[in-house]
Amino acid sequence: MSGGEMINILVLGSGGREDALAWRLRQSPSCGQLLAAPGNPGIARWAECLALDPTDGAKVVAAAREHKVDLVVIGPEAPLVAGVADACRAGGIPVFGPSAAAAQLEGSKGFTKDLCAREGIPTAAYVRVDTMESARAALPRFSLPVVIKADGLTAGKGVTVALTHAEAEAAIAAAGDGPMVIEEFLDGEEASLFALVDGEVAVALASAQDHKRVGDGDLGPNTGGMGAYSPARVLTPELEARAIDEIVRPTARAMAAAGTPFSGVLYAGLMLTSEGPKLIEYNVRFGDPECEAIMPRVGGDFARLLHGVARGQLSDLPPPDLSHQVSMTVVIAAQGYPGTPRKGGVVDGIEAAARVPGVTVFQAGTARHGSGALLAAGGRVLAITALGRTLAEARARAYRAVDAIDYADGFCRRDIGWRELQREDA
Ligand code: AMP
Ligand code: GLY
Repeated sequence: MSGGEMINILVLGSGGREDALAWRLRQSPSCGQLLAAPGNPGIARWAECLALDPTDGAKVVAAAREHKVDLVVIGPEAPLVAGVADACRAGGIPVFGPSAAAAQLEGSKGFTKDLCAREGIPTAAYVRVDTMESARAALPRFSLPVVIKADGLTAGKGVTVALTHAEAEAAIAAAGDGPMVIEEFLDGEEASLFALVDGEVAVALASAQDHKRVGDGDLGPNTGGMGAYSPARVLTPELEARAIDEIVRPTARAMAAAGTPFSGVLYAGLMLTSEGPKLIEYNVRFGDPECEAIMPRVGGDFARLLHGVARGQLSDLPPPDLSHQVSMTVVIAAQGYPGTPRKGGVVDGIEAAARVPGVTVFQAGTARHGSGALLAAGGRVLAITALGRTLAEARARAYRAVDAIDYADGFCRRDIGWRELQREDA
């Protein structure tokens, strides 16, 4: 299809990230019919939801054909690792999201570390080991703190920053035999950079910072993310350009040269060290809740942009149109998260929250009861996002909206953006 035509889109996934993607796509001038699988009650506000397993490539292709879909947008990592993007490409359906081979950048820490070593991409010094014994033997090569990572998809939960040898030994014992990466501790502030990548072409979309710990003051267990803000101003335009030139683009070139080109969004978790940005890890998809913070800042024809990436035409398109406003996302989670969340609590007040200026309420783990009530159905339930001229304004709006939500089982962090707010004050 040529420019100007409408693009029918199928979004795969069912979380707050996919709600934000669907919301943004629905407002794009080129967005035709919008479908989601399986979607959720929030996504159903903008898209027709299909009861479909998003990790089943054959079913996704069949549904895409049936509904004359021009673009499949894959939200979560599971369908990527399962090869759903490969199935779409084999079926001639443009897809935003990498092949299973390129998704190894997220799925295997060892794969990414080896690629960085070969290409001279700045990252922490490391060794790969396969047994507890070899892991213990490698420890003396590192000073403290040392970082122990179980390999494979562990959703950020397989990482220990050990301050003592005893902690390092305990982390190795907990990981057991199996692939592990042991690496140098990097000191600095973290920032995430989201880049659109199409083969050798890499373009920055936006930066953000996540809050992984469940509690205020960055205390308590790790979660998928309790809040985010965008941009992460610690990643200055100069540092962002360095991260693209020294980290993201060399990675894209290496993947293309290996015959496994990357296509989609590459999420670089960066440590801003005194020597410059270094790669902590890659994800091969948008972050959640970073995506909820970024989407309200994205202008222009996002549907056409993603379609361009999917068709290998990123270099022909104008750069992403990003608002200078800043945004903050506060996640409301169910009591018990990140352990066993309490399900079935009634969630009310979304309309009132959405009336706060600049606010959009995205839904993550929600379900619609037969009575019409909205119920909590997951760990992270809502992602409340506010735009503002400053982060302080975005914060005030986001928490006003949070306070308009009536959900007895819910909790949130009250300090999202605290580092950035301190800087804004300074
Ligand atoms: P990862 O799953 O690799 O993103 O690691 C989870 C978190 O552990 C990161 O967001 C960092 O906060 C921390 N981390 C991982 N690797 C390092 C490192 N080499 N130095 C310091 N902190 C790290
Ligand atoms: N918020 C972190 C992630 O999506 O992996």
